[in-house]
Amino acid sequence: MRIGFIGAGKMAEAMISALLRRQAVAPDHLMAIDIDPERLSQMGRQFSIRTAADPNEALRFATVLILAVKPQQLPDLLKSLAPTMTADRLVISIAAGKPLAFYETAWPAARMVRVMPNVACLVGEAMSVFALGRNATAADRETVEFLLGCFGKFCALSESHFDVVTALSGSGPAFLAYLAERLAAAAEENGLPADSARLLTAQTLLGTARLLLDGVYPSPRALMDAVTSARGTTAAGRQILESSDVGEVLRQTIRAATLRSQELSRPPS
Ligand SMILES: NC(=O)c1ccc[n+]([C@@H]2O[C@H](COP(=O)([O-])OP(=O)(O)OC[C@H]3O[C@@H](n4cnc5c(N)ncnc54)[C@H](OP(=O)(O)O)[C@@H]3O)[C@@H](O)[C@H]2O)c1
Repeated sequence: MRIGFIGAGKMAEAMISALLRRQAVAPDHLMAIDIDPERLSQMGRQFSIRTAADPNEALRFATVLILAVKPQQLPDLLKSLAPTMTADRLVISIAAGKPLAFYETAWPAARMVRVMPNVACLVGEAMSVFALGRNATAADRETVEFLLGCFGKFCALSESHFDVVTALSGSGPAFLAYLAERLAAAAEENGLPADSARLLTAQTLLGTARLLLDGVYPSPRALMDAVTSARGTTAAGRQILESSDVGEVLRQTIRAATLRSQELSRPPS
């Protein structure tokens, strides 16, 4: 498998580092394309992979093409590659808010797969969701599952869920990082040194995630109840938390991100 990344930004870097760490692909089977020459030489130095400025180079090189540019950069890119885009390679797009129909209209022959990953592929703990396009084959599905498995966990979902998926797992690391920042700051206010506050917060997030993922508790509610004793410290904290509007704020956070993804999905009027 030879993989070409069009767009060598944060997400491409996270995916390339995951693939190399897992030894899923040899460095000379990876190519990064970007319009920024500085960025390309940095990626070349960091990973010893091939680099090029022209997206057509990636088309010639790759059996799997990963589109990792910003959504607003896609229309021009799709137009420029339309004359040469055949069914010869699998094309995976990770762009937020762009439906499969957007690519399949511009590139009717392309074997497309839409993926929503997240930045945790940097540490092999991504949550990725994928939807196959109309020309994608069973072998393409296997390839996508293999690649997403290198980044972390994955599942297939109907494309109709992608806006809320984008809000929850795509943007989610930023929301949880905000909560981590606030929790650590609150601990500092109560006298804990900053570096200890950051460590305790991050490891507590990780441990909580593990308990839920491993099914030690069947639901977040069951975990909450298991660690809460009557009139204890957790009960005192929960009393504040659950009588506040945090639940409503989080509801609005996911709603706003979902609506923004829907907006990005609509063709410009
Ligand atoms: N960041 C996340 O957590 C996340 C999560 C899920 C999905 N995504 C999706 O992943 C995609 C990439 O996000 P990112 O955060 O990695 O963005 P990014 O850091 O801005 O990377 C995009 C890169 O592509 C370059 N580029 C733009 N047009 C190009 C072209 N025609 N040919 C080659 N390279 C081009 C950009 O250069 P310039 O900077 O010079 O424009 C930039 O270096 C986006 O579509 C986003 O929706 C991101």
